[in-house]
Amino acid sequence: MRKIWVLDTTLRDGEQVPGAKLNIFEKLQIAQQLAKLNVDIIEAGFPSSSQGDLESVKKIAGALKDGPVITALARAVQSDIDAVYQSIRHADRPLIHIVLGTSNIHVEKKFNRSKDAVLEMGVDAVRYAKSLLPEVQYSTEDASRSDFEYLWKTIEAVVRAGATIINIPDTVGYAVPEEFGCLIKRINDRLKNLNDQVLLSVHCHNDTGLATANTLIAVKNGADKVECTLNGIGERAGNAALEEVVMGLKLRPEYYQACSQIVTTEIKATSKLVSNLMGLDVQVNKAITGENAFAHSSGIHQDGLLKSREAYEIIRPEDVGVDEMELILTARSGRHAFKAAIAKILHSNLSESDFEELFARFLDLADLKKEIYHHDLYYLIDHYYAGKGETQAERVREDLYELVGLQVVSNDIFPTASVKVKRGGTVLKDSAGGDGPIDALYTVLKNIVNLEVELLEYKISSVSRGKEAMGRVYLQLQHDGKRYTARAVDTDIIKASAVAFLNATNQILLNRAVEPGAVTEGQAEFLGGERSGRGIV
Ligand code: KIV
Ligand code: ZN
Repeated sequence: MRKIWVLDTTLRDGEQVPGAKLNIFEKLQIAQQLAKLNVDIIEAGFPSSSQGDLESVKKIAGALKDGPVITALARAVQSDIDAVYQSIRHADRPLIHIVLGTSNIHVEKKFNRSKDAVLEMGVDAVRYAKSLLPEVQYSTEDASRSDFEYLWKTIEAVVRAGATIINIPDTVGYAVPEEFGCLIKRINDRLKNLNDQVLLSVHCHNDTGLATANTLIAVKNGADKVECTLNGIGERAGNAALEEVVMGLKLRPEYYQACSQIVTTEIKATSKLVSNLMGLDVQVNKAITGENAFAHSSGIHQDGLLKSREAYEIIRPEDVGVDEMELILTARSGRHAFKAAIAKILHSNLSESDFEELFARFLDLADLKKEIYHHDLYYLIDHYYAGKGETQAERVREDLYELVGLQVVSNDIFPTASVKVKRGGTVLKDSAGGDGPIDALYTVLKNIVNLEVELLEYKISSVSRGKEAMGRVYLQLQHDGKRYTARAVDTDIIKASAVAFLNATNQILLNRAVEPGAVTEGQAEFLGGERSGRGIV
């Protein structure tokens, strides 16, 4: 099967997103993760734009040994090419990337020169780059709006001058798939005739949401290489998203007669790293990397999924590094999904009447809360126990934390937090200081719950617009090598932060509880099943 080269330009085109600037260490961290993802080429920056950019490209080129090809961008002028050369010359496999426009708009408006003069600039630039390094990529900027014969004349001339990769950018997202596919086929037929060692590449922007489609149709029509970014970030509406292009190929290799060598299980981790370091949230319904990309909430889908994953799942979440498919229950989830979720918690069958009673309570709760997570189910069972007899209820209630009250003081001298929580009949309280209000809050909560947890991720976003907007806190804790995700919503974001932390903690406790053989006496009695010697905690 034909191998498709993947160039990742998250650190160059992606970093052009306003507010997404990274420091040198953050760039190195992303580059190292891109190497784990096994991209073929990393475009690490645009060295002539600043000394800082040059230094970070240099750092990446020096650090990634036996890894991907390292490239950086230059305009078709000697000083830019020198800056790229200085920054990548110590890479194991360096590549100089030159860009110059070929459309009438670029030639006439941007350069105000004749077409022949611009073409000559490009050829001179390639010759100069070739005098420094053997591998040179030439990008015909705004190719999709260029006159075909001038575009081809340029490609022919730069290939004769020594370019080893020809990149066809849809710089402004003007292309449409069918037309772009034809353009790539036409170029590829001539190019392979001219020199079949030269790779044909595409670089598509997403101004009308077609970047992935245009990239994939280009592959279908002969492109050897694709240029992408994680989460599709980049100039304006962004670039083709690496995860979409790569998973598109992986899903339909027979159709494309091509495959990439990306380690797809690293996709989610790379996406998160990029999103966290750049401070750019991923749209929740974003294909492959969005928070909801593998979450099924409709009853019909959940039911089908539980009978057979193939019914509604074309990509296995674990293939892109997503731990587990999450079924978020709603009022529309249906009996089957509810039963499956309860079975995860109880590890035993409920009697028909108990199930019906619990299901009715679940629907009431779902109407109120909209989204039901595992810890909500636990509360549901807890309350059901309460109705059945005080002993069982007490035993179950003992296992979970509940926020009673808090006071958090934010100042730049000594931020502090005092928190009171309840666990069963016991009230626990403590105070602590920290670097900031959230740090103080989480320090005191960690002390109270007395569990070895590490905060991996913490995010606040607003659930609705306006001044009464609710704040949603999303966090991820790590405990015993496992990740626990929790959310909480409140108009008070500090309170939401505390509740999210306790929700995650309760999940840790819950997880221990559902390990086989860890059923409490109360649950065992209720279920009429066997009880192991271990309690919930
Ligand atoms: O969009 C574009 O044309 C580019 C080139 C530098 C490839 O980013
Ligand atoms: Zn671009």
